[in-house]
Amino acid sequence: MTRAEFLKIMGVGAATLAIESVPGAGLLQAANPAAALTPDNTTPAKTKSGAERLAFGLPDQEARVARPVTAIVIGAGSRGSVYAAYSGQYPGALHIVGVADPNDTRRTQMAANYGIADEHCFRDWSEVFRIPKFADAVIIATPDNMHYQPCMQALAMGYDVLLEKPIAQTERECRNILAQAKKYGRIVGVCHVLRYAPYFRALKRVLDEGRVGSVISLQHLEPVRFHHFAHSYVRGNWHSAEATTPLILAKACHDLDIIRWLLGKPCEQVSAFGNLTFFRRSNEPLGASDRCLDCAVESQCPFSALQIYVRQHRYLYVFDNLPKDRALKDAKLIEYLRTTDYGRCVFRCQNDQPDHYICNLQFADDVTASLQVEALTSYGGRKTRIMGTRGDIVGDMETFTLTDFLTGKKYVWDEDISKLPGYEGHAGGDWGIVKDFVLAVANHDEKYLSSTIDVSVESHIMGFKAETARLNHKIAKL
Ligand SMILES: NC(=O)c1ccc[n+]([C@@H]2O[C@H](COP(=O)([O-])OP(=O)(O)OC[C@H]3O[C@@H](n4cnc5c(N)ncnc54)[C@H](O)[C@@H]3O)[C@@H](O)[C@H]2O)c1
Repeated sequence: MTRAEFLKIMGVGAATLAIESVPGAGLLQAANPAAALTPDNTTPAKTKSGAERLAFGLPDQEARVARPVTAIVIGAGSRGSVYAAYSGQYPGALHIVGVADPNDTRRTQMAANYGIADEHCFRDWSEVFRIPKFADAVIIATPDNMHYQPCMQALAMGYDVLLEKPIAQTERECRNILAQAKKYGRIVGVCHVLRYAPYFRALKRVLDEGRVGSVISLQHLEPVRFHHFAHSYVRGNWHSAEATTPLILAKACHDLDIIRWLLGKPCEQVSAFGNLTFFRRSNEPLGASDRCLDCAVESQCPFSALQIYVRQHRYLYVFDNLPKDRALKDAKLIEYLRTTDYGRCVFRCQNDQPDHYICNLQFADDVTASLQVEALTSYGGRKTRIMGTRGDIVGDMETFTLTDFLTGKKYVWDEDISKLPGYEGHAGGDWGIVKDFVLAVANHDEKYLSSTIDVSVESHIMGFKAETARLNHKIAKL
């Protein structure tokens, strides 16, 4: 190995090379991470275990702009409502002036919440584009198979776009949206919301500051949790890869994007394995039936719809018009379990998404990463381990610990994000992206956004290639 290569691997940049030229300042001194690792904005406080705290602080979620950015929500479901709620908290930043949704309850609720004029309430996204442009931006939060057309039309009409992930269902459509954004000179912010969460921003900061030297490898686990997987990827909206997108995009485009972003290098090749092994008919227990309400072994099944929705009241946002009274609410839920896919046996659904998925990625400079997406976990919270030349990081989306190899010192990021308005949404990322999108639109400058369409298309292509690799049992090159 040459001296230059060694310096590069040790993460010694131009500044340290300059020190090296001073007589008596050798490589080890220059590479000594003690000074560089001293966090510049930390409080002197230590954690209980004696680690130094990386107290970077929390961002101000409010976008301070001269006048509120106006936006139309296309798809007033779960995600559309989360983004619109930013306007309720910060009316000086964002004003919702239009809504499109065929669901009467959701459309009228959003219209009432934000005082939307009748002539700007639509049943279908296409109606928005039949009248002259009447807002700065559109927020596209429709199902996965309904992102492409509205986005292409919005851009052609001169709207900036906040676009839910996945961008579109194919690589070609993703590239077309990118080309359309360039053609019309518009901003497209892709909702890779994790980039805007203080936890991931802190991780990115310490890597960019070189606190672990050069990153050689990264390991990332996305534990979906068994009930979440059953809800979304067996019974729910994303049960079919063809109707929506493959799991690696539907769920893990966030993770691919975060890995690409943290490493700051292009991905060169990818391999992938995984299958739908458990949630299939051959695994149903004796006594199972089409619906949990009729199942003889319901009380023995951790995936029981009665357990998840009625007893535990999880994921109730998918059910409209639920009464407040507990008994009435449960009666209505049981009605939903009788009539919708949410009441179906997880072993008898039309699902095809893999319940375990492993993806290996090779980036430029021989940096490697692995991504695992797992249905069968009791816990959530992405787990990330980063291996650098001078230190490593272990994190779980609430806190991370950086250990310096030379000194053995530990540095902990454990900011209390419950102080952040909107922290419940992707650890602060949901409102973080709206803030940056508002700033980008108000200032006509996409640089306020971390997840522009260019970088987001790149990480989506990693997902499409991973799926090709998994299905063809071959390494896919990018
Ligand atoms: N960024 C994230 O972390 C994240 C998380 C979950 C979902 N998503 C993505 O967000 C999108 C929306 O997901 P969701 O959970 O809000 O789903 P949802 O079903 O709650 O909302 C979608 C809404 O679109 C409406 N819709 C359907 N057809 C329409 C049409 N023709 N015109 C206008 N509206 C129409 C539906 O009635 C529904 O209200 C999906 O693409 C999903 O993959 C992103």
